[in-house]
Amino acid sequence: MSWLRTHNCGELSITNKGDEVVLNGWIATRRDLGGLIFLDLRDRFGITQIVFDETNKKLHEQAEQLRPEYVIGVRGKVLARGIETINPEMKTGEVEVEVSDLIVYSKAETPPFEIKDDIPTNEEIRLRYRYLDLRRPQLQKNLLLRSEVYHTIRNYYHQKAFAEVETPVLMRSTPEGARDYLVPSRVNAGKFFALPQSPQTYKQLLMVSGMDRYFQIVKCFRDEDLRADRQPEFTQVDVEMSFVNEDVIYSVHEELMATIWKEHLDVDVKLPFPRMTYKEALETYGTDKPDLRFDITINDLSEDVAESGFKIFRSIVQKGGRVLSVTIPGQGKLGRGALDRLTKRVQSQTGAAGMIFMKKIDGEVSCSVGKFLDEDTMKKMADTSGAKDGDLVLILAGAAPDVYHQMGTLRLMVAKDFDLIDTTQTRFLWVTEFPLFEWSKEDLRFYSLHHPFTAPKPEDISLLDDSPEKVNARAYDLVLNGSEIGGGSIRIHDTLLQQKIFTILGINEEEARHKFGFLLDAFRYGAPPHGGIALGLDRIIMLMSGSQSLRDVIAFPKNQKAQSLMDNSPSDVDEQQLKELHISLRKSALKP
Ligand code: AMO
Repeated sequence: MSWLRTHNCGELSITNKGDEVVLNGWIATRRDLGGLIFLDLRDRFGITQIVFDETNKKLHEQAEQLRPEYVIGVRGKVLARGIETINPEMKTGEVEVEVSDLIVYSKAETPPFEIKDDIPTNEEIRLRYRYLDLRRPQLQKNLLLRSEVYHTIRNYYHQKAFAEVETPVLMRSTPEGARDYLVPSRVNAGKFFALPQSPQTYKQLLMVSGMDRYFQIVKCFRDEDLRADRQPEFTQVDVEMSFVNEDVIYSVHEELMATIWKEHLDVDVKLPFPRMTYKEALETYGTDKPDLRFDITINDLSEDVAESGFKIFRSIVQKGGRVLSVTIPGQGKLGRGALDRLTKRVQSQTGAAGMIFMKKIDGEVSCSVGKFLDEDTMKKMADTSGAKDGDLVLILAGAAPDVYHQMGTLRLMVAKDFDLIDTTQTRFLWVTEFPLFEWSKEDLRFYSLHHPFTAPKPEDISLLDDSPEKVNARAYDLVLNGSEIGGGSIRIHDTLLQQKIFTILGINEEEARHKFGFLLDAFRYGAPPHGGIALGLDRIIMLMSGSQSLRDVIAFPKNQKAQSLMDNSPSDVDEQQLKELHISLRKSALKP
């Protein structure tokens, strides 16, 4: 039996004083003051204090048996709390319910951890008992925010004439750079589906079919190394549009972001978002996803030191490398020990050979390799670094582009160490003009930086034959506070150009036909110019909710080893299942 509630646990206020109500929920906390027993009753909507007094002896005895996490229903009367017991922190803090009848729907064992925010519980245990972890107010808040953002997104695209189309989950593999999750086919012996790394090919085919504007909130699957901002199974807001250019895609998505931020965080986002080329981002911030919430930028000291007395600087610059600096305001007094520890961390996290530092104190510039440098060079270095009195300058030297990336990591490291990030800011930007290809030193071949369907910049097409590495792409990333929250491009819609790109990628005609014949064929029947983007929804919700990990915004996430500890997947399967799938396991995969 279940009593139908008249109100939820986050609803009652002083205006309900005197009402007879029914509440259902979980017992969050319990205080037994002898004569009076107070319980906090919790549901998704909030917490209401309920009270059992001694006048009804039987009921009071029943209440003595109640424990945290029992699920109960109560009938009772809403009372105003005494002035000294009003809780202004709680939505229902002005009232309590005096219970006249109780039903216990289910008892609960003592949970393995307290259901409360901010308790230091081992992540593994929380993931194993995810359904309990999800009772925590913060995680509930995150999931509810997520639910509401879905709604805003769907409304937004529908208003702009986008059609929501579902694409298959069992598909041919799409190249997005990660490994596929494969699904064996029982009825097609020896054949496999792949789970989508993204619906990239389908959305392009939808443009060929004339859908014009498509969106989908879609699960994607990538078998790649996991980090706090990566899950093997994650959600994209996937979009494709016909007859557009970059500007249209930017403006549609700037407005979407502004709408989401206004509706759910009441933040006014400044439009349009700034744009920065990949080259500028790398050279100024040492990354393709710059965090603009603090002012430190990278300075290039190469010219200042090219002829200097310090051999290491000279030879790095001669070989085309770079000597770069960042200036940390007001930290010139940092001691040797702290600088040595910072250097060690920089070395271990970035692979930099070493770090050099300069200080400007009382107008005097000093440098950790000062004995090799003349005063004039040091002054130039300090000037180029924009060092003011009291500042600390950190210098890394090495081959480009690696040294830029090292500097990017160092920049973030010091910003965190010295608390320089203004976390009240919301800094979106577009990073544009990525190189079309990147050269792999290991495999001695080109890979697409984005994916092989990305169009080159028209003015660079003539470089494709002789200098593919110089070709820039019509690709863009959306970055927020140092996180890549979206990426997309204008696509190739011409079969010949697409084939040429495949050739540069080392995919010969036969292989291209085998893998992408359907797409190449489709382009032969009238393909509109088109382009799109995919937003990482989990990352967006993570940033909106101030969470540190994607795990805090996904209902049932995987751990760092791509396992679900709650249901113990992936798991063994029956020999019979494998047999039906025509699969036998290699010795290395069998248990001893
Ligand atoms: P891309 O690979 O850049 O582009 O992915 C788009 C966005 O998806 C998010 N993302 C992830 N989020 C969580 N866990 C992951 N493992 C993960 N991988 C990616 C990021 C990223 O910016 N088909 C193209 C898009 C297009 O060209 O339209 C694509 O998938 O926020």
